[in-house]
Amino acid sequence: MKERNRPDPPEGSCLSRRDFLKTGAVGGATLIGAPALLTACAAGDQDTASADPVPDAAPSFVEFYGSRQTGIAPPVVPTLGMMASFKVLSPDRDSLRDTFIELTDEIQGLMSGRPPLIRDDAFPPTDSGILGATPTADNLSVVVSVGASLFDERYGLSAKTPTELVRMPFLANDRLDPARTHGDLLLNIDADHPDTLQFALRQLMRRRRRDLVLHWLIEGYTRGAGARQAGAGAPRNLLGFKDGTANLDATDVSLMDRHVWIQPGDDQPEWTVDGTYQAVRVIRMFVEFWDRTPLAEQEAIIGRHKESGAPLGMENETDTPVFDDPTGDRTPLDAHIRLANPRTPESEDNLIFRRGFSYTRGFDAAGRLDMGLAFVSYQRSMSKGFLAVQDRLTGEPLEEYIMPEGGGFFFALPGVPDEGRFLGDGLFT
Ligand code: HEM
Repeated sequence: MKERNRPDPPEGSCLSRRDFLKTGAVGGATLIGAPALLTACAAGDQDTASADPVPDAAPSFVEFYGSRQTGIAPPVVPTLGMMASFKVLSPDRDSLRDTFIELTDEIQGLMSGRPPLIRDDAFPPTDSGILGATPTADNLSVVVSVGASLFDERYGLSAKTPTELVRMPFLANDRLDPARTHGDLLLNIDADHPDTLQFALRQLMRRRRRDLVLHWLIEGYTRGAGARQAGAGAPRNLLGFKDGTANLDATDVSLMDRHVWIQPGDDQPEWTVDGTYQAVRVIRMFVEFWDRTPLAEQEAIIGRHKESGAPLGMENETDTPVFDDPTGDRTPLDAHIRLANPRTPESEDNLIFRRGFSYTRGFDAAGRLDMGLAFVSYQRSMSKGFLAVQDRLTGEPLEEYIMPEGGGFFFALPGVPDEGRFLGDGLFT
């Protein structure tokens, strides 16, 4: 049996181990012949030593201070993600300010591994103890975002509202559950171990217990199985497709400035500079239905090959899609990637930075698995970014297999450049 969509290597050719992994040849029917191919080539393979599986760098403490919140585009994307949305009950503007000050202090302590305060044992301990006396580095980061509802009449902040921040409307195909949608304040917590996530959440909640009431929460994971192997490429989502391949490169400063971070001079309140709009969509996937769909149809719906992640008709995951087939012979006109990014001069303005994760929540009353994608995108403009892309995706064939049921629109606050400042301080000047 031949591997799908991939020509045989030319006679006498040899794949480096890196190319071998990159092209996804580890999958399916080629597995048996592959080690022999590698061994036979090893002598002339300059790449072999460096292409062995690369162990992950040791987990570290993510720097908290910075003009932008560092957890949005961290140097290493941690394995796990959590979003916790809160209703804010602070009775007035001053106590809201105190809430932000205390959250800032707690987050700074958590991200730098500050040991818990030890006090008289006649009192409850100051932390849950889950991480012991000395929290270890675990790539923990916390990002704080605010929803449109925080700018209502309660705190006199309406003049400070980011110009494009609104309550997330119902979009095509949405079945939004009020119990899983919107919120005044969103904590985005990432780390490598569940204990670290739970520790951070509980510390943050206990610090301002009277002011923050949990509204909804979702947990999941970003990395795919085999992520620690060289050439693993983007992780797969729960439809089995590589997801994140054509994402914005977070290390490209000018690209991120152009598409993600609010810049001085933007049509926005001044305090928002270095913040970014955040679209959160909890999208359930009907995986049983998807698993009964022919492979060719799945690939046509997404516009990429499932195994390799390459654009349809191409070889490698990182090949740039080319849509030069006006009638959609190679890539259907309504394929997800073609609609999301048609790669026209106009659509250059609509690039977004995706940071979502897969979630699983057991099963529903009908016995169907309850899982999907906690989609997150960051963008400098909601209308040019998420909304423009979502608008193009309306009516796409993928809609039949998914159902957005929660999330919200938020604004991720600018960062904290130094110790004299706090998250959201620009709201109170
Ligand atoms: C459950 C829902 C979704 C699934 C399963 C899904 C899946 C995928 C996959 C497999 C890719 C190709 C790999 C890649 O480049 O990352 C992709 C690309 C992309 N998706 Fe989605 N996606 C979903 C929802 C969304 C939503 C809601 C948006 C935005 C409104 C979106 C925007 C994009 C964009 C911008 C790309 C990159 C296209 C490119 O530049 O080639 N996706 N998605």
